[in-house]
Amino acid sequence: MRAYDVIYKKRQKEELSKKEIEFIVACYNNGDIADYQMAAFLMAIFFAGMSDDEIFYLTNAMINSGQRMDLSSLNMPSVDKHSTGGIGDGTSLIIAPVVASLGVCVPMMAGRGLGYTGGTLDKLESIPGFRTNIDKTEFLNILDLNGVAIIGQTSEIAPVDKKMYALRDVTATVESIPLICSSIMSKKIAEGTENLVLDVKIGSGSFMKSYANAKILSEKMVNIGKKFGVNTSVVISDMDTPLGNCAGNALEIKQAIEILKGTLKNDLYELSIFLSALMIYSVKKANSLQEAKILAQKQINNGNALEKFKRIVHLQGGDVKVIEEPQQLLPKAKHKLEIKSNQEGFVTAVNSNRIGIAEMLSGAGRTKKEDTIDYSAGIILYKKTNDYVKKGETLAEVLYNRSENIEEAVTIIKDAYIISKNKNGNIKLIKEINYEQRK
Ligand code: URA
Repeated sequence: MRAYDVIYKKRQKEELSKKEIEFIVACYNNGDIADYQMAAFLMAIFFAGMSDDEIFYLTNAMINSGQRMDLSSLNMPSVDKHSTGGIGDGTSLIIAPVVASLGVCVPMMAGRGLGYTGGTLDKLESIPGFRTNIDKTEFLNILDLNGVAIIGQTSEIAPVDKKMYALRDVTATVESIPLICSSIMSKKIAEGTENLVLDVKIGSGSFMKSYANAKILSEKMVNIGKKFGVNTSVVISDMDTPLGNCAGNALEIKQAIEILKGTLKNDLYELSIFLSALMIYSVKKANSLQEAKILAQKQINNGNALEKFKRIVHLQGGDVKVIEEPQQLLPKAKHKLEIKSNQEGFVTAVNSNRIGIAEMLSGAGRTKKEDTIDYSAGIILYKKTNDYVKKGETLAEVLYNRSENIEEAVTIIKDAYIISKNKNGNIKLIKEINYEQRK
């Protein structure tokens, strides 16, 4: 078999066999196929799409590039959450400790920023000492001790996804339903979770721009979950507006700590409670979604979730003083610039794609794979959709150390805000839910 022939067949929109998909994935994983051929294959999938059978074979081949973990020795029900990526989406930082504080195993394998979207690993690494580069043995040890760990992709778990994910990021092949589906599901199935909650984002700051595509992606992921015996629930949630009050690594850690302390209740809190509730319900720790929501809120109010977060930080090498003194411990940007409103009225939109690009330009994200991240950089959003703003009031602030791209970032933030006389009546954070309790 030759890679050329498989690429050609996909380019011609023909259906690939299990063997052809296994061949190309295994050869790319062991280095027998170069990046340029894989890039062409990914682009062919981007345009030609894949049948359900092909997506299943691709997911399976990606799982088989590593090992499938077995968490049964931990004697706890397990559940993980994964989002398709957004701006200001720090839900994992809140959900993982909330759910784990109820005696549930949360084996979270998270990602880095992809394109203009942020990544949980980059956020956590803004805590001094925090390690996400943890191998399978240590992952299992931490899960045994604390029920939760948030780690990066290891060389044992779906390693080929890490290579493909990085290649997609630089070849404009991220926004493909078969590729997103196989990327997410291969990691989650390989990490051994019994239950999975997926947050499929829709809107300007997400990879799915249309409701129809978000629904197709959701259905395909649920089907793949079923085929591998992973009980998969899906929420379709809004990403037209950034989540929370900031976008940036250290900024989002500070915000997550405030939410875990119970001192901040914004849309990020609301979505985190909802996703936590779905996770709690799926592992049968509650008899209804409403009961699960109350439980999630209780874990924040009684301090248990914060305590769990502290243990996560401690066991992964981070400085736990960050909980009491986030302002002192987290990196701080040297400069800031305020973006003021030039009119009075209601904010009818804060375009999250633009905020994501401005965040990247502030230094908080990568424009190239090799870029180093400035953990202190980012954007604070003082006004969000449907807030009233007076002329001259601050809409947002950009924090930075590197000034090269700041003028452009400021212009983009100004363009992200739409202000008019009337409120926006079309805002709905959670648009659709599809869930089941484990049988
Ligand atoms: N998250 C992933 O893990 N993979 C994708 O392809 C997109 C979002």
